[in-house]
Amino acid sequence: MGTSLQGKVAVITGGGEGIGLASAKQMVDEGASVFIVGRRQTILDAAVTEIGGDVVALQADVSKAADLDRIYEAVRVAKGKVDILVANAGVQTREALGSITEEGIDYQLGINFKGVIYTVQQALPLLNDGASIILLSSATALKGLPTRTVYSATKAAIRSFARTWASELKARRIRVNAISPGPILTPLLNATLVDEKAKEAYMANIVGAVPLGRPGGPEEMGKIVAFLASDASSYINGADIQADGGFAQV
Ligand SMILES: NC(=O)c1ccc[n+]([C@@H]2O[C@H](COP(=O)([O-])OP(=O)(O)OC[C@H]3O[C@@H](n4cnc5c(N)ncnc54)[C@H](OP(=O)(O)O)[C@@H]3O)[C@@H](O)[C@H]2O)c1
Repeated sequence: MGTSLQGKVAVITGGGEGIGLASAKQMVDEGASVFIVGRRQTILDAAVTEIGGDVVALQADVSKAADLDRIYEAVRVAKGKVDILVANAGVQTREALGSITEEGIDYQLGINFKGVIYTVQQALPLLNDGASIILLSSATALKGLPTRTVYSATKAAIRSFARTWASELKARRIRVNAISPGPILTPLLNATLVDEKAKEAYMANIVGAVPLGRPGGPEEMGKIVAFLASDASSYINGADIQADGGFAQV
């Protein structure tokens, strides 16, 4: 166990699974008190058991500002501050141009776009001066991947949020950075690999285009999140860390 986050209070949306869970584990290992947020209580409870340290689960839907107000009030009562905010919750549905529905647009915009704004905006009164905000963008923001019209656009917006908010929060010395993962083996990705054909196509078309020749692991992303949360990254601000095995870099 390290001590780089000793005494820090972190909130991670979507912290029950995948990249959020790995980030929560890494931060608890580094000494932080962590609050994980998600919609399904069963997933959150399993994560708390798996992490087994200084972690509390709070049930909320990030697309609802009132839910976020409720959980930030709980964090305020328990700890009085937030030092690290990871706006990680995100969803992906895939629709080819020609079959995009209003429902699909609203669902992804509600969580990936509005939800990220609410996650940061509702936290402002509780965020310490000098806090670190970390947003999850995606390599898809840079790549023209078929069937990702809405998803990729929400992720490009998140990269833009990091730029705008790093400027807006200047007076409070709050750093805002994005991470753009490539293909990372998580429940989100696994849900799209519905059958052998889909898996084969994914391995050939996406993983085949990764110079490292493999998908990433959530724990590799968790280490980057913890680095951006820590003082070791104190001069990194407004940046987008490309964590994709080279997928969108070559
Ligand atoms: N995996 C990849 O290859 C990859 C690549 C690039 C970027 N990313 C981004 O990285 C982030 C994490 O992805 P992941 O792969 O770890 O996803 P994941 O395995 O699906 O985990 C995401 C978590 O977010 C929670 N969540 C979803 N909607 C929510 C909402 N409205 N309110 C609160 N919690 C919500 C989910 O729990 P509930 O359903 O219970 O709420 C889930 O536990 C996402 O923003 C994703 O777009 C992932």
